[in-house]
Amino acid sequence: PRSIYLSRHGESQFNVSGKIGGDSLLSPRGMKYAQALPALIKDNIGDAPLTVWTSTLRRTVQTASKLNYPKLTWKSLDELDAGVCDGMTYEASINQFTPYQAYPDDFANRDDDKFNYRYRGGESYRDVVLRLEPVIMELERQENIVIIGHQAIIRCLRVHSASDSRYAYFHQLPQGDLPYLKIPLHTVIKLTPKAYGCDEERYALPI
Ligand code: F6P
Repeated sequence: PRSIYLSRHGESQFNVSGKIGGDSLLSPRGMKYAQALPALIKDNIGDAPLTVWTSTLRRTVQTASKLNYPKLTWKSLDELDAGVCDGMTYEASINQFTPYQAYPDDFANRDDDKFNYRYRGGESYRDVVLRLEPVIMELERQENIVIIGHQAIIRCLRVHSASDSRYAYFHQLPQGDLPYLKIPLHTVIKLTPKAYGCDEERYALPI
C-alpha cells in the first residue's frame, strides 16, 4: 500500500521567538530534525519511489534539503497568511503589540469562530481548505509522498473532505475542531489509505 507522510518543517527561528508567519530559516534544533529525517523515511519506506513536496517558504525547503528524492514546491502549501498580523507574537512584549492589542474587537472574532476568522489582508482556515483542493487532487494520483508543510496546512490536509469517498482517508471531524488539532513539531504522521478511512501512525523524533 502507498503511504503519505506529513510533517511540519523543523523548528524555525520564528517558532523560537513565538512570531506568527514570516519566512524565517530553521533554528539549530530545526536543522537537527532536517538531518534526522532521511533515516526515518528510509527505514520506513526502503527503496520504494517517493516524491517530496514542500511549500515555497524557506523553512520547509530547508527541512527537506537532506532528503534525496525528487521534489516539488507548491505555493498552495504555504502557511495560512496572517496578513497584517504576520510577524507579531501572541505573547505580550514591551516593544510589540499582540494581535489582541492591535485589533481587539476584530481578534475576539477569532476566538468565537477560528475556522471562519480571516486575518485582515490574510486568510481563514476555510480559505486554506479551499486552496488545498488542487493539492488533494494531485495527491490522489500519486504514489508515496512526503509533505513538509506548516501547522495550519497539516491541520487542513488531515481533515480535507470531498464529495468523492476516495478522499475519505482524511479524517472526518467537525470543522470547528480543525483549527485546534495538535500537530507537534518534529513528528512524522504516516497515513496509509485503506478501502474506507486510513491508518495513522506517528513518529516523534526526540530532538
Ligand atoms: O506557530 C507557528 C504557526 O505556523 C504560525 O506561523 C501560524 O500563524 C500558526 O502556527 C497557526 O496556528 P494558529 O492558527 O493556531 O494560530
